[in-house]
Amino acid sequence: MALITKKPRGTEDLLPRDSYRWQFVEKIFHEEAEAYGYSEIRTPVFEHTELFERGVGNTTDVVQKEMYTFVTKGGDSITLRPEGTAGAARALLEHGLFNDPLPVKNYYLTSCYRYEKPQAGRLREFHQFGMECYGTKDPAADAELITAAKAIFDRLQIRDLRLEINSIGCPTCRAEYHKALTEYFSAYKDELCDDCKDRLERNPMRLLDCKVEHDHKLAEGAPTVLDYLCDECRDHFDGVKAYLDANGVEYTVNPKIVRGLDYYTKTVFEFITDSIGAQGTVCGGGRYDGLIEELGGNPLPALGFAAGIERLLLTLDAQGIVIPEPNRFDLFIGHMGDQAHLKASALTAALRTAGIKAGFDIVGRGLRAQMKFADKIGAKYSVVLGDNEIAEGKAKLKNMKSGEQTEISLEPEAFINSFTQIKLSEEFAE
Ligand code: HAM
Repeated sequence: MALITKKPRGTEDLLPRDSYRWQFVEKIFHEEAEAYGYSEIRTPVFEHTELFERGVGNTTDVVQKEMYTFVTKGGDSITLRPEGTAGAARALLEHGLFNDPLPVKNYYLTSCYRYEKPQAGRLREFHQFGMECYGTKDPAADAELITAAKAIFDRLQIRDLRLEINSIGCPTCRAEYHKALTEYFSAYKDELCDDCKDRLERNPMRLLDCKVEHDHKLAEGAPTVLDYLCDECRDHFDGVKAYLDANGVEYTVNPKIVRGLDYYTKTVFEFITDSIGAQGTVCGGGRYDGLIEELGGNPLPALGFAAGIERLLLTLDAQGIVIPEPNRFDLFIGHMGDQAHLKASALTAALRTAGIKAGFDIVGRGLRAQMKFADKIGAKYSVVLGDNEIAEGKAKLKNMKSGEQTEISLEPEAFINSFTQIKLSEEFAE
């Protein structure tokens, strides 16, 4: 039978030799989210299709072209989540989380699925870290959220990340803006792609992020939303900028940023790098004050962002930022003879209970091959047990790099104490 060894296009395996890189960034996400008062939420990888149609929006590329949708054996239409916001909002409503003291702050680390054309930084299965905050209209909250995202990128030591912000207004000012857009694009109606002809009727703002080149060019000359903001939205946007200034967060206002999902209102923002080519937007987000109501809840203002983990890792690589690789073994216990094998097994178990990364041979190698293995896996220390060592209750602990040897008792508690001390003092000396 032929081997099945090809993963589906646009997916990636995370191999054991690379997983420390993900764990490193994930640890920073967890720590920073918690520092900002966020708690983790996990929602299903699939939801009812209608959630995304209503939440993300029927006229978006994500819903029109990119969703992995299928009908189950029970006849339900199900979609693999293309993003995290809609599912988190659904869970908030389903479990009444809006009754908790406001603002409610949730974060997630999730896989997402979009049927896009794969290229560097664009996958069909990718991963997002996202933060969602519910129950505040205050522009200080927008600035706090953006500051949190920046804190994460700073901790990752990413350089040259541009923050671009914009306001796309509320339904009141949007009505005027839509009129202006419809007028502008109607003049080019025959030149538009079929999707955009439809968008012109249903949601003219979606024309602004059409990926078809000619439409994209036309969009460059379109009226900008900032000229149509109502007083409330303008004040709000001024407030966001003032709080960002107060927080020392640098930004540029880019009136062309409208984001590709329908739920946004007022503030939108993106963090962009030039280090990884065309797919340089590592993070996007904004306010979505109407989404909870759109999903059937009582009105509840909200805001959030999501960062693409693959794009962040690509950026780290491109910028030469090295994630420290943890060593797999602190200590390898070599053994010769049945008694020593038993002792190695018991001692290793005791060391592991004490949090020491220890190992011994469990595949039946001879002593020479065991020590070669210890070297290969980068064990920092080794100890060899034979009949003599077992009889005397002590052995030689060897620093694999310097070759230095120290006598050590084989009584587990004494071993653990001495080993910890030696390791600490040598690490300190380094
Ligand atoms: P988004 O801009 O569609 O927003 O995606 C957020 C981030 O996910 C992007 O900036 C990018 O880093 C990453 N990303 C998106 N698509 C792909 C892909 N095909 N391959 C690799 N990475 C990708 C959202 O998803 C919103 N839910 C963000 C949000 C949260 N807004 C409010 N709250």
